[in-house]
Amino acid sequence: MVSLTVNGTLHDIEADPDTPLLYVLRDDLGLHGAKYGCGLGQCGACTVMVEGEAVLSCVTPVLLLEGKAVTTVEGLGTIEAPGPMQEAFIAEQAAQCGYCIPGMMMRAQALLQRDPGVSDEAIRAHMEPNLCRCGTHMRILAAIRRAADSMATAGAEAPSGRAGS
Ligand code: FES
Ligand code: FES
Repeated sequence: MVSLTVNGTLHDIEADPDTPLLYVLRDDLGLHGAKYGCGLGQCGACTVMVEGEAVLSCVTPVLLLEGKAVTTVEGLGTIEAPGPMQEAFIAEQAAQCGYCIPGMMMRAQALLQRDPGVSDEAIRAHMEPNLCRCGTHMRILAAIRRAADSMATAGAEAPSGRAGS
């Protein structure tokens, strides 16, 4: 059994230790935001955050996650109250088919939580592992820029200690 926290809720998972995190999220926990693209760590569709870092969940065995905190796209906000990253993707209409978008958001979120003041060049470099077969990369980059500006502003306005939360 593996105990891990997903989007703030503790779960005890009965699964083979080699089971990819992606399968646990989708099949055991019913969280379908993270997508199965290649299953080989080559497309980024399955990206989630583990302890604040972007992780490819299709090639991450659940046994490595004992006691760790996982965040999926469902943890960024809701339909009624989208988070800054989700708001930015909506505002820029960054999705075409949408399949890559949860992974894009989670990789970008990991970067912006560390540094909302990040440069465009750093965003491009950081997003390199995530692919979009629809070719909406420019809108995706615009959305991440918008989210960064929004999060930086919120951080500047927040009481000390809350920046980037
Ligand atoms: S599905 Fe995980 S990298 Fe492609
Ligand atoms: S929007 Fe279709 S794969 Fe990116």
